[in-house]
Amino acid sequence: MRKKIVAGNWKMNLTREAGTMLISEVVNMVRDEVNSQVQVVLCMPYPYLGFAKRMFRSQANIALGAQNCHEKPAGAYTGEVSASILRSFEVDYVIVGHSERREYFKESDELLAEKVRQVLANQMTPIFCCGESLALRQNGDYVGFVKQQLTTGLFHLPAQDFIRVVIAYEPIWAIGTGLTASPEQAQEMHAALRQHIANHYGETVAAHTTLLYGGSCNAQNAPSLFACPDVDGGLIGGASLKSREFVNICKSLPA
Ligand code: 13P
Repeated sequence: MRKKIVAGNWKMNLTREAGTMLISEVVNMVRDEVNSQVQVVLCMPYPYLGFAKRMFRSQANIALGAQNCHEKPAGAYTGEVSASILRSFEVDYVIVGHSERREYFKESDELLAEKVRQVLANQMTPIFCCGESLALRQNGDYVGFVKQQLTTGLFHLPAQDFIRVVIAYEPIWAIGTGLTASPEQAQEMHAALRQHIANHYGETVAAHTTLLYGGSCNAQNAPSLFACPDVDGGLIGGASLKSREFVNICKSLPA
């Protein structure tokens, strides 16, 4: 069956002392409390990546994640980080196409398709983000829009590569707003995306694709979201900065 994942996206938060403390608390709590079938991923700012992995003490169900990478393999791109550099620091997952990057850094689905290629070529797992704005949710074909994000960003991949991708549906109106999608809204979109994948790659690939929900997910609403048949876990922003809250979210994912 498909992998169950809870990924924390710290975004641009926490300086060294607080971040190191958070990693250490999460590592201990996950070891003691979280079902080993649940994959926990910590996506932290670049400077942590060099030492965070050593703090996981080879716990198989905690993986290291980055929040972005460059679309080119190497070269004169001052300030950027390539997928191969990330892999050499033992990064396992890379978030690609978060709505904040799409908006503030003008990342298009075509560019994201290149990033996905780089991440896969370096034996890491892309967490490909998609999701609609509030205006689209209220007045438009929001399901069609998100399906198109998948088509442009991912469907260039052959099936054997596509099955290595994790998808995170994050409605923009739910991110950092406290306005979570209801379980019905999340399930509607996730089921539509799974069907879209099935139409392109077939039922078997669709059944094996992990679809995460993100957007104001917390320990209170996670159980009902994670109970939806097509929701396979979460991508957690603000609540991933608090160890107890984050681990409680991880514990609410049925293994
Ligand atoms: P919040 O959980 O803070 O709404 O953020 C969600 C998110 O953007 C995770 O990538």
